[in-house]
Amino acid sequence: MNEKKTILSGIKPSGDLTLGSYIGALKNWVELSDQYDCYYMMADMHAITVRQNPAELRRRTLAQLAQYIACGLDPQKNTIFIQSHVPAHAELSWVLACYTMFGELSRMTQFKDKSAKNADNINAGLFTYPVLMAADILIYQADLVPVGEDQKQHVELTRDIAQRFNGVYGDVFKMPEPFIPKTGARIMSLQEPQNKMSKSEQDSGGCVCIMDKPEDIMRAFKRAVTDCETCVRFDPAAKPGVSNLMQIYSVCTGRSFDAIESEFAGRGYGDFKLAVGEAVVETMRPIREEAERLLKDKAYLESVYADGAKRASYVAGRTVSKVYKKVGFVPKSAL
Ligand code: TYM
Repeated sequence: MNEKKTILSGIKPSGDLTLGSYIGALKNWVELSDQYDCYYMMADMHAITVRQNPAELRRRTLAQLAQYIACGLDPQKNTIFIQSHVPAHAELSWVLACYTMFGELSRMTQFKDKSAKNADNINAGLFTYPVLMAADILIYQADLVPVGEDQKQHVELTRDIAQRFNGVYGDVFKMPEPFIPKTGARIMSLQEPQNKMSKSEQDSGGCVCIMDKPEDIMRAFKRAVTDCETCVRFDPAAKPGVSNLMQIYSVCTGRSFDAIESEFAGRGYGDFKLAVGEAVVETMRPIREEAERLLKDKAYLESVYADGAKRASYVAGRTVSKVYKKVGFVPKSAL
């Protein structure tokens, strides 16, 4: 029998979807979705590790769903759901927390970064977040987890937790592999190219969102920080701004770095930044237009997430039952 392998991935609706999440994750989800049995979620439970405005969180979660579909994820072929609609994630997360070490969680770079940025709210959820992420992945017995570079450490921790659990109880969980794109695994801020493009810097001009208007995207690229040479060359250490723009251009046009270097040889950065902006505008345009259309059809979106939650809950529930049995919980009475 030729059973399809499984994929699970998610994005936190803690800000509007960025070009970074699109290139680092979403674009690959679409490319992989034909060959795999895919589970893609809006990770709303992860979003509340940082304070959220409730109305905004609801709006962004639905907008994210519309954008997933608009990017090309077919809800018939993929299971698309809202994380909080599948309570089994939280149930497995508790069990796995008892098999995760304090020291392991303390070493997570994202925890260190985020607790430095949110010094007034270093809550336990922020600390145990990677355990919930491990539950998200292991509950579907995922083989592959398409993510950007910044999530690699969390997928590695997931493997360590799975290994520890399997070591005690036998082969309960499949061992997941991260899938990290060769180009675009870490898209940098357009204003501070030494830092990752992130939802949290949405107002600084360093971040571009899928739903941004073309004129705003063009403005962000025209203002993008480069360097004082005038040579389009790929060298992330010496030329982080230009190399970042090259990655974005390469992903949007399918051109290699060599082809891009030749295309802009002898031309100034002004031309280059304009071309990158236009390529991004044209890549995002059909997605934005389709997402705007879908967002007007709330009944359709509701049918997608309701169906997704039903399908996901079935698979997730089976894993939780198995895990509960393994650790020694008394099975629920059938009566
Ligand atoms: P999140 O919401 O921060 O980011 C979503 C995805 O986009 C990738 N990404 C980027 N890739 C390249 N360049 C960037 N600048 C960039 N910014 C974001 C991220 O690597 C990620 O793949 N914890 C996760 C969400 C999550 C998850 C999961 C992922 C929850 N459960 C289970 C996979 C499996 C997160 O916060 O991603």
